[in-house]
Amino acid sequence: MTPSRAPLVLSVLAALVGCDDWAGYEIERPSDEARVILDATPFIQPQKLCADASGLDVPEGAELVNGQLCVWDFFSGTVPEGMAFSDVSSCEPPWTQGPPWFTAPRRVYESPSSLLNDDTWVAEATWVQSQIRASGCSCCHSSSSGSGNTSGFDFDAPGVFTDSMTNSQLIMSGGYNDLHKLFGSFPSGDNHGFAREETLWPSTDPARLKAFFESEFARRAGSQTDIDGSDAAFDALFGQVIAPRSECVSEFEGVGPDGTVYWNGDASVRQILLMEADADTPAFPPNLDRPEGTLWALYVDFEGTPIENGALRIGDVPPGSTQVVPVDGPAPVLQEGVTYSVFATEDIMVGRILNCTFTYTARR
Ligand code: HEC
Repeated sequence: MTPSRAPLVLSVLAALVGCDDWAGYEIERPSDEARVILDATPFIQPQKLCADASGLDVPEGAELVNGQLCVWDFFSGTVPEGMAFSDVSSCEPPWTQGPPWFTAPRRVYESPSSLLNDDTWVAEATWVQSQIRASGCSCCHSSSSGSGNTSGFDFDAPGVFTDSMTNSQLIMSGGYNDLHKLFGSFPSGDNHGFAREETLWPSTDPARLKAFFESEFARRAGSQTDIDGSDAAFDALFGQVIAPRSECVSEFEGVGPDGTVYWNGDASVRQILLMEADADTPAFPPNLDRPEGTLWALYVDFEGTPIENGALRIGDVPPGSTQVVPVDGPAPVLQEGVTYSVFATEDIMVGRILNCTFTYTARR
């Protein structure tokens, strides 16, 4: 046997004896440079990235603006179906927007390799892989993105790629728990046809994506315990977002007579909102971080210095930060006797440290 033919012969042998392609599968941990972006770079706000379409293999019918392909460089942003998100984005912004840690993907379930001879299954699985590859999620969950950070599970794992996912992750993916919507989404008309209201992963055909994950869950005889596991994960993420807001306690939490914002502890913050008392608790960008009833919102830019406890009054816009509500015009003047709510986080989507109501008084 010549050396050049060896891999082919080996893979045929492997298929015959039912060996899996997982032998030797290993995902490397992210480099030190990648770690700086993942761990030490604050959240980069959603922004549109435009690239000259002539240098890209853009599918016919994709929306272009003056010959440019424009995409949201964001974890839930997507490129046109058939392309890879990493064709356009460096993945660095999405890396600042998701869980930063590395868990090496591995095989957590053993499907029979005969599944790979089932043409219907292969067609659906290949389509699902290509859907995820088109999204910012691929920056951390598809090794073919070449991003250098694939964590938890891998949509490009060898053989039956879903073997890298737990049953709970399969049921989550199908959008079983409505709380997944709090992750936020772009309208499909502004995201190359990908919607994300029904399923956890953005998709051009949510019903088809949902059907794939539900049938994977059924094939593996997923149980109520797995569903409970997925619910518990969503509760941990969003339980506090849907819980009723409490009153700010004492003068150490809330907004003081001169408009200064206070919270407990030494943490510094990158997001502060003043809202009507009954506004929803902010969830995730791009559409749920400034709920209806937001009166004023200040975001510290990713390169700006976070705000220390007691250092800011409602309406202040320190250098390196941006007032995002109202976009134009001054902050509202606090009214005596009116109840408001105030919200602050250490960074967008993480470290909620203030979420309470207070009744404003200018008197000490
Ligand atoms: C910055 C990297 C990053 C991005 C971007 C990212 N994720 Fe993740 N995701 C992670 C990490 C890390 C974990 C946890 C892995 C572990 O510890 O097993 C995770 C876990 C998950 C889980 C499993 C949760 C659980 O409780 O088991 C799901 C489902 C998931 N991500 C979906 C998505 C979706 C959908 C997107 C895009 C809209 C996305 N992720 C984007 C890094 C990321």
